[in-house]
Amino acid sequence: MKRKIVIATMNDHKASEIRSLIGDRYDVMTQSSFSIPSVHETGKTFEENALIKAGEVSQKTGLLTLADDSGLEVDLLQGNPGVYSARYAGPNATDAENNKKLLAELEEFKDEKISARFQSVIVLIDPVDNSKNIFHGSWEGRITLKPRGKNGFGYDPLFYIEDLESTAGELNQAEKNKLSHRAIAMRKVTDYLKKKSLDTE
Ligand code: IMP
Repeated sequence: MKRKIVIATMNDHKASEIRSLIGDRYDVMTQSSFSIPSVHETGKTFEENALIKAGEVSQKTGLLTLADDSGLEVDLLQGNPGVYSARYAGPNATDAENNKKLLAELEEFKDEKISARFQSVIVLIDPVDNSKNIFHGSWEGRITLKPRGKNGFGYDPLFYIEDLESTAGELNQAEKNKLSHRAIAMRKVTDYLKKKSLDTE
């Protein structure tokens, strides 16, 4: 029987990316399967928020739990929106509203190269051996003030990857999952889980 793993998120796009990055060795569920409401992200860093989300969901389910806290850092905005990426334009902001706010903030820099990166911090908690591990991934790019592409979520249409001459919003999920901040962190998670299962066999 496959071991269960719970993804502590209410974001279906994020869950879908993580699901395909975990592969088929696990029975993957999300916190919605347990009717666990959205967890308040009161932390000031990605690490703190990922620890809060994974802690609450693992405690409520007693199962192996994974939480990703992620966001976009724009150098010209001193790292903002950062941990506030999901609620940049307000507590219940949509992706479109957040993108609009970011474009407005960056209008004055329209003639500059706007360097930015996505960050992902993933916390994995295993209640069986009481272990807690943290994995990081980042993805460098720049912001384009001309949104392109309908794939992905969040700031993907504004995140331009020079080498590919395309935005993250123009990549399909398989392409994004080869390069993204979340993919880099998730590769570390799956390597860790593989090694751990070999150690206990
Ligand atoms: P979290 O669910 O609190 O971790 O918020 C993550 C937020 O960061 C999302 O709502 C997006 O605004 C942004 N974000 C994180 N990862 C991505 C991505 O892969 N593409 C686009 N936006 C992302």
